[in-house]
Amino acid sequence: MSAASSGSQGDAITVTLVDDQLIVGEAVRRMLGEDPDITLEHIDDPAAAMAGIREQQPTVVIIDLVMPGIDGMELIQRVRDEPATRDIPVIMLSSESDVHRKVEAFQYGANDFLVKMPDRLELVARIRALAAKAIAERELRTMADRLQRQAVALDEANRSLQALNVSLESDVSQQRGRLRSIAMLGNELSRIQDIDILTERLLDEARHILGADAGAAFLVEGESIRLTHAQNESFSDPETLERLKRSAVNLPVNSRSLVGWVVQTGELVNVEDVYSLPGNAAFSFNPYFDDTYGYRTRSVLAAPLVGTAGTVMGVLELINPRQADGTPRACFDPDDETVARHFASMASVSMQNAQLTRSMILRMIRMAELRDPTETGAHANRVAEYALVVYEEWAKRHGVDPDEREKQRDRLRIAAMLHDVGKVAIPDMILKKPGKLTDEEFAVMQGHTMVDDTLFDELLSGYDEAAAEVVRGHHERWDGSGYPGSQVMARDEHGYLVFPGEPIRTGRSGEDIPLFARIVAIADVFDALGSARAYKDPWPEERILDLLREEAGAHFDPELVEIFISRIEAIRAIQVKWGAAPEVT
Ligand code: C2E
Ligand code: SIN
Ligand code: SIN
Ligand code: SIN
Ligand code: FE
Ligand code: FE
Repeated sequence: MSAASSGSQGDAITVTLVDDQLIVGEAVRRMLGEDPDITLEHIDDPAAAMAGIREQQPTVVIIDLVMPGIDGMELIQRVRDEPATRDIPVIMLSSESDVHRKVEAFQYGANDFLVKMPDRLELVARIRALAAKAIAERELRTMADRLQRQAVALDEANRSLQALNVSLESDVSQQRGRLRSIAMLGNELSRIQDIDILTERLLDEARHILGADAGAAFLVEGESIRLTHAQNESFSDPETLERLKRSAVNLPVNSRSLVGWVVQTGELVNVEDVYSLPGNAAFSFNPYFDDTYGYRTRSVLAAPLVGTAGTVMGVLELINPRQADGTPRACFDPDDETVARHFASMASVSMQNAQLTRSMILRMIRMAELRDPTETGAHANRVAEYALVVYEEWAKRHGVDPDEREKQRDRLRIAAMLHDVGKVAIPDMILKKPGKLTDEEFAVMQGHTMVDDTLFDELLSGYDEAAAEVVRGHHERWDGSGYPGSQVMARDEHGYLVFPGEPIRTGRSGEDIPLFARIVAIADVFDALGSARAYKDPWPEERILDLLREEAGAHFDPELVEIFISRIEAIRAIQVKWGAAPEVT
């Protein structure tokens, strides 16, 4: 299941220009003339503007700042005041580039600001970006709905669990113990929200219930199959385990590989020895892992994880069965197949749930940063996984018990992915500025951590409060010089966000900053510095680690910096896993 593209490609874009000068209308019409999907309506009588916008319901409105009879700012406000027009993005057009006027325009509710006469390509790019954003925001408004449906899916999970329990009562085979433990697991697993955490746990449980020496979990993502987790009990060397745990492989969805065949057919596969598949076998075995790690895969039981619509969401692959005492068994037997089928059907509801959560998070991230729709949220995934590595080590040192740790890992992974979701409220021209921000612009930028409760409710409904903690706290600094402290963004009398005029430099300090926020602060800066941004080149790792060390006790919690650096091998493995490809925001 892949998140729908939020781009406006293919959708016709209508633009209404309100400007009293005919010559401006003609100029804009000429500029848009080369883009057949963009049509322009020019309204030259400002008094008729509201009626025209209301009736035309354009994708984007462009409003001139200075007009006879009505001021452009006032017109923006009227557009914002009226329910029928309030969600239409507005570009303010002005002959003046003064930064105070720009900020004022944003405060009145403008989404973008252009100085007359803009370059044709720039005009078109801004219009397209706003059109894409408007579409994305429409999706955002339906998101609360979807989360509601998710709660319904959970109820379904519980119901199917009860059904499984009933069937167990009548099951008199020796399998009963194994099946019962699957039934008990179902409830617990349906509480896991994050898809990567869930598949890791599924693999772990399936391996224990079925007694397998090794295993791998795969998720179907569009046309490819991503290996999410590999486990192997015969390795004990920590470095090998680390590499194995974060192995990154993508397989195509086709029937050539064993796993690809399971995805394509939706059938369970049980092979006694993958190295002696018959010549006419439907698939072949790829010895990549065996070759890389010096392991000998023999028997494989691979079960599809099937959603309610019949689509295969993933595959659990169990490798080399063992007895309870650890000695090898010849192969997986028919009872094992039954157990694997029950296990997969128990898992499918929580899988669907977690898939839905992931796809909504990816949508929100895309919407917040207006990234290329093909971007898979690699930055968010890397930040989330670095954060998990730091948390795990911290929890170990602080004696957090394993059940609690597991629960917190799930909350943290989701929260960390969402850390910058407040950027949805930041005007594009600041978010995407290809240079250094001025103080005034940075003050607006800080607003991405200050979204108030109303916006949080909208953005984060259905997510744990850990997400709000991280969104609000990820730019706090250990020494108290970060932001936003206790500030929330004010709203004007029309209900619109009023961005702060000056950067905040006093925030919370030390352990007043929630642990998850302190962790994400390090993970975010590490990843931001290692990536290309519109305003900077990527830094080499050495320089980044020097900065972390320098900032221990100033920007960052010193204990967490020490932990981060002590786990640098795991951090590097994550960079490889999620492709540390340069990103441009
Ligand atoms: P981001 O790009 O994801 O950066 C996250 C944090 O990484 C920054 O938080 C900062 O602590 C650190 N960081 C990023 N780049 C640099 C750098 O070149 N040098 C140093 N020493 N630290 C860096 P911060 O500063 O609060 O910024 C938050 C967000 O504001 C950034 O997220 C970015 O989206 C935006 N931003 C900040 N400065 C600029 C800028 O000069 N130009 C533009 N276009 N955006 C900026
Ligand atoms: C106009 O663009 O409407 C006239 C010039 C100006 O606004 O300053
Ligand atoms: C304009 O809208 O073109 C004029 C800007 C101003 O005088 O404020
Ligand atoms: C395959 O051959 O299907 C993929 C490799 C693996 O089993 O891990
Ligand atoms: Fe941020
Ligand atoms: Fe970030």
